[in-house]
Amino acid sequence: SARQPGGANPYPQYFSTNAPSVPSYVPRVATHQSTRPVARSSRTTCASSIKKTIVIILSILLVICCAIAAFFIWYFENRCLGSLIECGTSGVCMPPSQWCDGVSHCPNGEDETRCVRLFGPNFILEVYSPVSKSWYPVCQDDWNDDYGKIACKDMGYNTYYYSRGVAAEVSFKSYMKVNTSAGNTDLYKKLYSSDSCASGNVVSLRCIECGMSIKSVNIMNRIVGGSGAVLGQWPWQVSLHVQGTHVCGGSIITRQWIVTAAHCVEG
Ligand SMILES: *[C@@H]1O[C@H](CO)[C@@H](O)[C@H](O)[C@H]1NC(C)=O
Repeated sequence: SARQPGGANPYPQYFSTNAPSVPSYVPRVATHQSTRPVARSSRTTCASSIKKTIVIILSILLVICCAIAAFFIWYFENRCLGSLIECGTSGVCMPPSQWCDGVSHCPNGEDETRCVRLFGPNFILEVYSPVSKSWYPVCQDDWNDDYGKIACKDMGYNTYYYSRGVAAEVSFKSYMKVNTSAGNTDLYKKLYSSDSCASGNVVSLRCIECGMSIKSVNIMNRIVGGSGAVLGQWPWQVSLHVQGTHVCGGSIITRQWIVTAAHCVEG
């Protein structure tokens, strides 16, 4: 055909927006299937139903596998059933009533650790109840230094400083009280929970003298610059040295223990 003027597309049909991107002509070759359309359709239906069945079976298998995996994860994460509490990671389970009762049941005695604590700025002695999963302050009624020494020992201190009564906070609803008629038995066995505390005071217990400044301290608004301390003014404060040089501060917890920042130590 004659050439069209310059600029015009000589093959407009290929660039028309309606033009199919593949040739619209598909050669039809006669095959054995062409002659038996009925057979072909039934075979396609059969293949697709097999596919469907496989997909359903795979889905069911996947769900079962997930369920089994979830069970094993649950089983190994939390091996104790119901309200039983696991002794550390030993796999041994104990009912809550056997925790914090003064008798060690767990292989490593985990059931008798962390049953007492000194809470808050007033060092309130509190006892944990695994049954009600809460901490109870100890009422000052009938409390004495001997109980204080036992409580400090239970918390790992070899020292005892003092115990005294401080006014109970209004938030305290239940208390632990000392049963003086319980005889010469363990402190935990002497304690029982009660909703009243006649003295209105709870036990404030100090196991170690550290943390008390021997000199009255003027509270300063800012410590930039500060002022020189006299020897022994901050008796819990230590200077950690490496090769004769101060690297960090630390606080005395007990004779053997200093608390400091992680970056101050190696390994
Ligand atoms: C105190 O101890 C005695 C003797 O073990 C016991 O009979 C009594 O029930 C205890 N009281 C309380 C309130 O637990």
